[in-house]
Amino acid sequence: MTWKTPLTGALALGLAVAGWQALRPEPVLTHGRITTSILFNREVSQIFQKKCFQCHTEANVSMSLTTYKDARPWAVAIKEEILEKKMPPWSAVTGYGHFSNDVSLTAREVSLITSWADGGAPSGVLLADEDKPAVIIPSLSGWEHGEPNTLVAVAASEKVAADSKDRTARIEVATGLTQAKWLSSLQLNFADRRVVRYAAVYELRTGQWLGTWSPTHAVSAMPAGVAIQLPAGGRVAIEIGYRGTFEEASGAGELGLYFSADKPAQIAPPLEIKAPLVTVVAGKTRERVRTELTLKSATTAAALWPSLGAGATSVEVTALRPDGVVEPLLWLKDYRPDWPSSYVFKEPVTFPAGTRLTVTAYYDNPGTTPLRAQLALSVTAFTPLLRVATARQTSRPAASPAP
Ligand code: HEC
Repeated sequence: MTWKTPLTGALALGLAVAGWQALRPEPVLTHGRITTSILFNREVSQIFQKKCFQCHTEANVSMSLTTYKDARPWAVAIKEEILEKKMPPWSAVTGYGHFSNDVSLTAREVSLITSWADGGAPSGVLLADEDKPAVIIPSLSGWEHGEPNTLVAVAASEKVAADSKDRTARIEVATGLTQAKWLSSLQLNFADRRVVRYAAVYELRTGQWLGTWSPTHAVSAMPAGVAIQLPAGGRVAIEIGYRGTFEEASGAGELGLYFSADKPAQIAPPLEIKAPLVTVVAGKTRERVRTELTLKSATTAAALWPSLGAGATSVEVTALRPDGVVEPLLWLKDYRPDWPSSYVFKEPVTFPAGTRLTVTAYYDNPGTTPLRAQLALSVTAFTPLLRVATARQTSRPAASPAP
């Protein structure tokens, strides 16, 4: 399944390039002295491939950084953005939870890029090759886990106006399922990635969070053996964050659903921790909103989806275990409302019954009208999977005969 853009290939690409060229910094005409051995075509492009190309390629949400010609004019801006931790956008503080979808740069990656930028930003190739990518550019369309079992068209007629500000659209669609199915994973694909920041999918009847798409994390998958039951004739609600580009663009997409054929070992029930609505008066800063939930039974958490609404500046999620141990699960210190993301644990975390999960967020209201702070945290959670007994455990020595 390939996407057809409203404008045909070359023309659409031409316009996209023209748009970013308008923002491109003045080219550096006098190449300074090269004082580094770090090269764009060796170290730098490999880091960009892992941490930047999800967003910085042609026809994507931001300007291309795939070739030396594309990236060189941005060298100083790149250094500044990464030192200020503005790029790549990732709000979680390192060390509070370990996430598989973390796109933040390691200290080594930061130092390689800064040495490159400070040392004259050399390419490492002949002039003639400076407009060729040094590494493979990942495909932006297509299904990472193969053809989905079910495809649902989403926001087919949605248009995103030129230069429009951030807005959230909520769209409800039927899954078209004629019998209940076990959802193991989902992915979204958008017709025009330039205008989509994130998308969160919920089962409509229960309100259960099913997964969140972001440019850096396209597939939301349950751990092996875990699934969510989707009813026959059900509907899903999809919340999509749009921001306009320099021309009107399509906001349409496709939702791909993947089902497990067998009954899963564990069913993930809805788990949402929601704070009562708090009104933040005009001009108030650092208004604290806090909510908590005590787990009635042992629970394993695989992913978190904080939904903070307008005005949030930070959020912290912690677990207080019955033995008194406090475990920080997530801390978004300088929360980036323009880049909502889910947080998928590298290793799902298991809590005993009686563990208290607390969510604390701070809100600012710089406006002139009251702001309603809407804080919620959805969790992909399930009963801990039973460990399959290993051969060593089962082959006990035969009871020795009585003396
Ligand atoms: C999740 C998407 C995403 C990722 C990943 C990402 N960027 Fe960006 N970047 C953007 C967007 C979008 C903009 C345009 C400004 C905005 O809307 O925030 C931008 C802007 C920039 C800018 C220009 C700021 C200016 O001066 O206008 C630089 C430089 C930059 N990014 C570098 C990087 C580098 C280097 C990486 C990887 C280490 C990276 N970005 C990863 C989305 C991303």
